[in-house]
Amino acid sequence: MMEIKLSCCHFHFLCYLLAASLVFSHAHNHGNPANEIVDIINKNRTDQKLPHLNDSPGLGCMALQYIELCKGNCTGNNVVNCKPSEDDFTEVFAPNCGVELPTFGTITGHVIGCQKKYVEPSIAFSQVLVKDKSSLSILKNKSHTEVGVGLVGVHKGPFFWCVLFSNGQTNSTFVLENRGEGIKQKTGCYSGSSAPCSGAQKSGFAPSSIFSMSYVLILLFTFL
Ligand SMILES: *[C@@H]1O[C@H](CO)[C@@H](O)[C@H](O)[C@H]1NC(C)=O
Ligand SMILES: *[C@@H]1O[C@H](CO)[C@@H](O)[C@H](O)[C@H]1NC(C)=O
Ligand SMILES: *[C@@H]1O[C@H](CO)[C@@H](O)[C@H](O)[C@H]1NC(C)=O
Ligand SMILES: *[C@@H]1O[C@H](CO)[C@@H](O)[C@H](O)[C@H]1NC(C)=O
Repeated sequence: MMEIKLSCCHFHFLCYLLAASLVFSHAHNHGNPANEIVDIINKNRTDQKLPHLNDSPGLGCMALQYIELCKGNCTGNNVVNCKPSEDDFTEVFAPNCGVELPTFGTITGHVIGCQKKYVEPSIAFSQVLVKDKSSLSILKNKSHTEVGVGLVGVHKGPFFWCVLFSNGQTNSTFVLENRGEGIKQKTGCYSGSSAPCSGAQKSGFAPSSIFSMSYVLILLFTFL
């Protein structure tokens, strides 16, 4: 009897721990891989004693617009063959995001990559985005003060990732009208967004956390 009670207690305790850790990790990055890439970029920079970059939702949203435009142009060797013009930034990307034009700042760098399959944020960082000397030197540039990341995949791929850097102040550049609440995000996701990735679950952005969450719930209902 004693033994059963104990293991039952242990079991419940374990469930609570699991549930708590899931809720925490979920709340931390909203199941948004773009936020995770921002964290990885900042960890990489601060490990090299470079300043931390602020997460700018305006830049993130424009990074998503950038790859929306380039979605058809992933070459066989995973190069994004696409050159948006300067005007695209102010005439297409910013208006699509509701970036207030007077707050449009200076883009100090961008890194873009594509791949047939979806990969986890850490792999996307090291094998898709920052995989050569030129992208590494962009990552390490001291001019940047803020960063935004977007990613998108079409059906089974290819998947696209884009990082935009700027030297502005997060509060005063790339400000989103109405705090970005009016943005109708059709596909993909971007860093700093209050909305979760849309159209993403099918492509495998965050199925594991949903799966383990339901598993915990089923266990709780079965045993409580
Ligand atoms: C995508 O590739 C096609 C074919 O090479 C090219 O004509 C088009 O301009 C590219 N799109 C962009 C946005 O650069
Ligand atoms: C850093 O970025 C700025 C702005 O884009 C550029 O002018 C400068 O040359 C870059 N510095 C290095 C070391 O690449
Ligand atoms: C930063 O990222 C680059 C590219 O993936 C990697 O080569 C380097 O070792 C990383 N640096 C640190 C300190 O993590
Ligand atoms: C924005 O500005 C406010 C007031 O000046 C400050 O409290 C806040 O920390 C700033 N936020 C960011 C992200 O810089």
